[in-house]
Amino acid sequence: MDSASKSGMKNSGESAMTMMTCIEDMRQVARRRVPRQFFDYAEAGSYTEQTLRANRADLEAIKLRQRILVDVSQRSTATTILGEPASLPLMLAPIGACGMQHGDGEILACRAAQAAGIPFTLSTMSICSIEDVAAAVDKPFWFQLYVMKDRGFIRALIERAAAAKCSALVLTVDLQILGQRHRDLKNGMTVPPKWRINNIIDMATKPSWLLSIARGKRRTFGNLAGHVRGMEDVISLSQWTNNQFDPSLNWKDVEWIASLWPGKLILKGILSVEDAREAAKTGAAALIVSNHGGRQLDGAPAALRVLPEIVAAVNGQAEVLMDGGIRRGGDIVKALCLGARAVLIGRAYAYGLGAAGHAGVSRAIAILRADVERTLRLLGCSSVADLNSSFVQFPRSWRP
Ligand SMILES: Cc1cc2nc3c(=O)[nH]c(=O)nc-3n(C[C@H](O)[C@H](O)[C@H](O)COP(=O)(O)O)c2cc1C
Repeated sequence: MDSASKSGMKNSGESAMTMMTCIEDMRQVARRRVPRQFFDYAEAGSYTEQTLRANRADLEAIKLRQRILVDVSQRSTATTILGEPASLPLMLAPIGACGMQHGDGEILACRAAQAAGIPFTLSTMSICSIEDVAAAVDKPFWFQLYVMKDRGFIRALIERAAAAKCSALVLTVDLQILGQRHRDLKNGMTVPPKWRINNIIDMATKPSWLLSIARGKRRTFGNLAGHVRGMEDVISLSQWTNNQFDPSLNWKDVEWIASLWPGKLILKGILSVEDAREAAKTGAAALIVSNHGGRQLDGAPAALRVLPEIVAAVNGQAEVLMDGGIRRGGDIVKALCLGARAVLIGRAYAYGLGAAGHAGVSRAIAILRADVERTLRLLGCSSVADLNSSFVQFPRSWRP
């Protein structure tokens, strides 16, 4: 191919990318490119999806209070998260089977996050393994842990994360069993997965996705394959995992994990003041106010709604991070005004990944960054460090 046609292709790729001006655009492209069962897996919430909707509804209900005639010629989105500098108060959340949105999805997303100067979190249930990602990137990333009944496996997994120099361990505490997601059941995203003819036809009509998966390193759960005896294929591995989520998980286990993990520990999935206080006592460096993106307990409140009381209860003993429903820079600003140190995004980058791989994740982060910068200036605030509750107006219905 001559260089003119190569640069023509590059330009058309670039312009397709710049036409995606918001996360919703990326979602629409991902919906066309990613087979339905995997797109729906990312999109779905549990049961009636009321918690999924509440995450967005509460972000929209809270209003920004602009101040005028403030000199905003200087601006800064820089912060620190767990003491490390970050260019934006943003992290990529752990996403199970991220590598099914796009081949090598975890590596691509991690590279995009690191290039943007923000942390990436690898899920226990990732397609690329800890070692795959560590070998493909040049900076440390965070590792998310699901505790399984097989504690020998968990101990080994923690050791692998430490050997890969992961800079934080994110212990997810809201998944003792899996929330039921109707869409997954209907699409055959079950344990074991159902190979339905319509899924196969759907995949066959998504050539760029197929190619990315064919080129990817793996097609099964990389952290598990080869580490659980006799379980190699996706069916036996997902069956094993489903039986392994541990309903007996409790605070004693947190102590045990903290004793094994040499670095910073983060507890993900806190929604009540009582649990936040307990979490702070464990010595965790941070906790994540999260309802798992509305995928676990349906009927739980929006993460944003409980954020202020949790920030107050923790009283500076740990950093308070938050996720759920973040799709715009203004959402990030609102969460910071309510006391979050930084926020995580799940679907917002999964859509970018499904839409355009590495470039899509970079674009999603760039969209949010530009949005935060513009929102700050329109708000009359120069720096994310200066955000506080005086910049928001709570809806009347939120008042006790
Ligand atoms: C497809 C998908 C897979 C997820 N997998 C995990 C996971 O493996 N571990 C985990 O702690 N959270 C997982 N989550 C929850 C996210 O880490 C995060 O809490 C949530 O996506 C935030 O909401 P948002 O998607 O609206 O940004 C997953 C979320 C999605 C959408």
